[in-house]
Amino acid sequence: MHVGLRVIRDEHRTLAAVVDGLSVLAQRMAGGQDRPDFPLLEAIIAYIEGFPARLHHPKEDSVLFPAVQRRTRDLDDTIAELHRQHEEDYERVTRLRAGLARWQADPAEAAAFAADARDYARFTMHHMTIEESRILHALPALLTEEDWTEIDRAFDANQDPMTAPELTSDYAKLFQRIVLLAPAPVGLG
Ligand SMILES: [Fe+2]
Ligand SMILES: [Fe+2]
Repeated sequence: MHVGLRVIRDEHRTLAAVVDGLSVLAQRMAGGQDRPDFPLLEAIIAYIEGFPARLHHPKEDSVLFPAVQRRTRDLDDTIAELHRQHEEDYERVTRLRAGLARWQADPAEAAAFAADARDYARFTMHHMTIEESRILHALPALLTEEDWTEIDRAFDANQDPMTAPELTSDYAKLFQRIVLLAPAPVGLG
């Protein structure tokens, strides 16, 4: 498998576990089963802002989708929708951060944050399912070795710190904590 494709899939699996973990943790904390752990929720949101929003989606927008569009125009509508969802993703993450601040100031805001976190997890899973089923699935038949060289380079150069092999970073520790706290059905089928 091309390294670019493997990295995209690994990053999707990590993000799936993180957004599902955020949702499960938020439901439990808002529902009173767990004590609110604001530093943990804050760290998860900071990760989403720092990695998927700043590196994963931009690599798709600037490298992966243009490579597909050089070879076919059949996926233009799907790609336009995915671009739109990337924009919506930034707005949703901004809203999560604001919602967390409201909850810290007022316990009555807990349920609203938990609902936003659940919606965000669904939105993200849906987005990645479209990418995997319509774009990634089509790549082997579409792309040339030259296209892959560019994609491999882009995705290999800026890997998700949670999926990087050296599991010593603060992000890796955070990921292990999320998975231990909220075992998630990782994988997009
Ligand atoms: Fe995406
Ligand atoms: Fe993606």
